[in-house]
Amino acid sequence: LISFLDLKKVNEPYEEEMTEAVNRVIHKGWYLLGDELQMFEDEFADYCGVRHCIGVANGLDALKLIIQAYDIGPGDEIILPSNTFIATILSVTANGATPIFVEPDILSYNIDPARIERMISSRTKAIIPVHLYGQAANMSQITAIAQMYNLKVIEDAAQAHGAVYNGNTVGSLGDASAFSFYPGKNLGALGDGGAVTTNDSVLAMKLRALRNYGSHLKYHNQFKGMNSRLDEIQAAALRIKLKYLNEANRHRRNAALYYQSNIQNHNIILPEVINNDELSHVWHLFVIRTKHRDQLQSFLLERGIQTLIHYPIPPHKQTAYSEWNHLSYPISEKIHDEVLSLPMSSAITEDELFRITEEINTYNEH
Ligand SMILES: Cc1ncc(COP(=O)(O)O)c(C=O)c1O
Repeated sequence: LISFLDLKKVNEPYEEEMTEAVNRVIHKGWYLLGDELQMFEDEFADYCGVRHCIGVANGLDALKLIIQAYDIGPGDEIILPSNTFIATILSVTANGATPIFVEPDILSYNIDPARIERMISSRTKAIIPVHLYGQAANMSQITAIAQMYNLKVIEDAAQAHGAVYNGNTVGSLGDASAFSFYPGKNLGALGDGGAVTTNDSVLAMKLRALRNYGSHLKYHNQFKGMNSRLDEIQAAALRIKLKYLNEANRHRRNAALYYQSNIQNHNIILPEVINNDELSHVWHLFVIRTKHRDQLQSFLLERGIQTLIHYPIPPHKQTAYSEWNHLSYPISEKIHDEVLSLPMSSAITEDELFRITEEINTYNEH
């Protein structure tokens, strides 16, 4: 079986270095808010080209805490894409704010800037562009609109570590950015992890307190914060993997190029890099589209190839958000009905790419 993502193989090249790093932490006896976190925060801020990085427990908390730190809450609205992983929406509703869905562009699957302006109201406080599947959203248009209406831009960069947009790295393109280090991400930890990056020093200070019970000074609580920290073991492991992130992304880019140039099937729409810079996509996922998605998925599985769907149900159709189930977002619904993610990782081999492509090219709709 060619599995969708083999994390053991992904981490194998770093295993020795990571084991040493983890052992170092165990031996040091300091497990939270220590040197490893400080060093990872400095290194990741540097990598993204920003002044501050604040490690947190996961990507959802990163988004949640940014929204809280900006004092966005009940009565406020945040504009975001109608086709995203549920965490983007959860971060807004967890703060009591209202998500305003905007349909994506069908070529990039990212929020369509041309549809944003008409959704802005006097209650709008921020836009959350999601760099979905690893491709940077159309940030020049989004930031231009945000500036015109004095809105914060909060990047959801959970899927796009290292993507470069017009010369700047994702994580430096808005007011603040949220990253996830979930193990399957382009920069993945050995468990949950997340971070905020920003150039805003006031925000950074507040986030350092918010992730730690709302306290800068032990037992002195300035804010109603939470416990959401990136632990020393995760930080130590991430420091190792960060060194190899560009190389890992290059491997993904080559794999994507292989799929793009070798898949030939009139039933299938291949993903495209929309920005003319190939670095603007780090191929977290390689997502094809076909009217015969479920059949193709079974066809491939019968031939030993595992694929996944990102995502089968759009946020507004989720049971958790029954208040929006009656709404209609036809572009999102079409995407959710037709997308299929092919195996993709920094460990995928030429042989696997060859076999997957061959099988896809023999597929005919029935
Ligand atoms: C687009 C997007 N936003 C947010 C998250 C939340 O990150 P986490 O799983 O670390 O909470 C994820 C990943 O899971 C994601 O893909």
